[in-house]
Amino acid sequence: MPSSDIGLDKTLAALGVTESAQVVARFAEVRAHFDGQFTTVHDESEWKLFRDRWLGRKSGVLTQITDNWLKPATAELKRAVGQQLNELRAHVETQIEARRAAIETGAEETALARDRVDLSLPGVIRPIGSRHLIRQVFQEIEDIFFSIGFSVVEGPEIETPYYNFEALNIPEFHPVRDDMDTFYLELPPSPDKKAAPTPLLLRTHTSPMQIRTMEKQKPPVRIIVPGKVYRRDNPDATHSFAFHQVEGLAVDTDITFCDFTGTIEYFVKQFFGPSVKTRFRPSYFPFTEPSVEFDVSCPFCGGTGASNGTTCSKCKGAAWIELFGAGMVDPAVYGFVNYDAKKISGFAFGMGIDRLAMLKYGIDDIQVFFQNDVRFLRQFP
Ligand code: DAH
Repeated sequence: MPSSDIGLDKTLAALGVTESAQVVARFAEVRAHFDGQFTTVHDESEWKLFRDRWLGRKSGVLTQITDNWLKPATAELKRAVGQQLNELRAHVETQIEARRAAIETGAEETALARDRVDLSLPGVIRPIGSRHLIRQVFQEIEDIFFSIGFSVVEGPEIETPYYNFEALNIPEFHPVRDDMDTFYLELPPSPDKKAAPTPLLLRTHTSPMQIRTMEKQKPPVRIIVPGKVYRRDNPDATHSFAFHQVEGLAVDTDITFCDFTGTIEYFVKQFFGPSVKTRFRPSYFPFTEPSVEFDVSCPFCGGTGASNGTTCSKCKGAAWIELFGAGMVDPAVYGFVNYDAKKISGFAFGMGIDRLAMLKYGIDDIQVFFQNDVRFLRQFP
């Protein structure tokens, strides 16, 4: 609405205003005009135009009122005009300022809403792997043996026949080598070509570390040796050409067969639970005398040989499961490491970890340990 519509371009005299009541009415009209326009102001640019229209120094409405109504007013009306103008100015200024603040916070809110970070949204999930079940079982076994004073040593996976066989009292052509006749490495000839290179093979068991440890260390010795071993085996549900063992060796001045059985039983009950029963059967290993096979009552059928009314499929009704080989260290072995067989004694054991893991976790195919199928691995986080 142009300002002429409310008579801003004329003097009050020209508008026929002669009494203060008319002045008040005129100002009321202007104010209503302001209030009407004011409702249309919503954003910053509208607000600026509006402010200039009303408060602009040169031609804003309030300036026009000052110039056209107040200044030329008659002496009788001047006071009323001045007072009305002050009131109008106060109203206009507060309203305009209030609208500015409202638009500003409104804009901030819009900006905030636009840039808001929603902390409740899930972040980028980086999948974290877990330790392989075999590693976990190694750890369980290590923890049990740690708790009774054993320490952990590890050794080379490439061995000499001396450590893998001879020093363990397995001379060349000994029939037990048949089982382990295995992966020899093809080596380049020695540089001077005079000597044949020392043959090397992938170790067939962790037992060589018995020798390596005793060579370096005087008794007492209490160690376990977790590690990978290799044999020329065809893969099936219970065989693999690479598998895992934990070797154990305890040698001291006063170790008896009782210490041996107590230690092994303690381990088995910690590992499988207190309800399993244990038994020894005589066996033979070149590096132990006497040698035993160590069995546990079948953890699947509770040592009954039957489950759900039929023959237990795990122990095939035998009620016992063969766990590992062990025995008292054969005195001949001490001869290879300069221990005095008359003064010391000890026991050793060697267990297949894949087998233990399969028994404990109900796994019926050793191959799953090596296939790295995440659907299997995820079952053991
Ligand atoms: N080294 C044997 C194997 O791999 C297992 C074994 C048996 C280890 C008896 C021992 C032991 O230390 O005393 O078949």
